[in-house]
Amino acid sequence: MNRSNIVLIGFMGTGKSTVGKLLSERLGWTFRDTDHRIEEQYKMTVAEIFKVHGEAYFRMAESRTLAEVLSNDHQVIATGGGAVLAAQNRERMLEDGYVVALTAASDVIIQRVSSDQSRPLLQGNLEERVHAILEHRRNAYDFAHMKIDTSNLSTEEIAELILKNAGLSG
Ligand code: S3P
Repeated sequence: MNRSNIVLIGFMGTGKSTVGKLLSERLGWTFRDTDHRIEEQYKMTVAEIFKVHGEAYFRMAESRTLAEVLSNDHQVIATGGGAVLAAQNRERMLEDGYVVALTAASDVIIQRVSSDQSRPLLQGNLEERVHAILEHRRNAYDFAHMKIDTSNLSTEEIAELILKNAGLSG
């Protein structure tokens, strides 16, 4: 298993960015967020890319960006919730990092994502959208090396668990 990167996967609102930032500070590693990297490269927000070019185009950009990021090391990488849908992305993640799936109860997810209206896949009835996509992705995050339910844990507790399980707690 390759521990030179930590790759955070999980549904929208499971805490990948928050946990990733803290973990990167603890480790003295670089924090990377693939959505932000795509936005920098395309000079458009994720929502704009979905609107102008469509989801398939975004997925291509996401795979390309993920591969580029994974070619470096000593990074904590927060991926977009749908990055796991492509088999090639899952393989790259497992090859180049320690993959951690963050999960949360659906009501927790709904509460967390409700403060940010920008996610293109959650437009319309938020609760219905979350439930439908969660159902569709029921096993999508199961390939990870470890899985943590973040519903009732603090960011610090989650970071500690990851460091311990990855054998990186010093
Ligand atoms: C998506 C999740 C988003 C972003 C895009 C699509 C998904 O990232 O990549 O809106 O398919 O689950 P976050 O998981 O950071 O919200």
